[in-house]
Amino acid sequence: MFAFVRDSVGDGLATHLLSFGCSTGEEVFSLRRYFAESRITGVDISPHRIRQCRRRARRIRADPAIRFAVAASAEGFAPQSFDVVFANSVFKHGDLAIAPPRWDHRMRFGDFERVVSDLARRVKPGGLLVIRHANFRFSDVAAAKDFTTLRHMPRDPKTPLYDFANRLVPMSDEAVVFRRHA
Ligand SMILES: C[S@@+](CC[C@H](N)C(=O)[O-])C[C@H]1O[C@@H](n2cnc3c(N)ncnc32)[C@H](O)[C@@H]1O
Repeated sequence: MFAFVRDSVGDGLATHLLSFGCSTGEEVFSLRRYFAESRITGVDISPHRIRQCRRRARRIRADPAIRFAVAASAEGFAPQSFDVVFANSVFKHGDLAIAPPRWDHRMRFGDFERVVSDLARRVKPGGLLVIRHANFRFSDVAAAKDFTTLRHMPRDPKTPLYDFANRLVPMSDEAVVFRRHA
């Protein structure tokens, strides 16, 4: 996946990647192996996890083009500021071995739509939005009209799918990589 994204957008000092919901930083540090030069910003809602990211960055002497911030949305970033926004395993609720027909009391499409629409606005024209392991579809969000799907992947059976009305729907492959229209 990371190689596919790098081959699509390229790597360079002017390239800026966002790992949204970066947890303890695994995605950010993995991305550095694929993007040797790009700026990489990891954000997470959890101050504790961001502290762990920063500790690890100091321990491994990560380069200064890797940054971390505490945030619950992308509101603090300027529109069209990222070449790629990753949101992997952020919009899912645990591992649901048995999927309930509705799950509104734990997660709602409206919350997904609000945060994802914000992320979509931060992608530069021609840039990519990567959403993997989500309980909702980006195609159900109005902002999807500005994007073309580049890549599908098999859906993890423990990540059941709900529609815009929070109803369980049959699983299909997961659309994962979206390119913003130029
Ligand atoms: C399962 S981890 C995924 C980690 C990483 N993306 C990866 O693929 O390795 C989910 C992370 O998303 C974060 N998260 C959930 N909702 C968020 C939000 N609205 N804003 C920022 N971070 C969020 C959680 O705190 C958690 O660290």
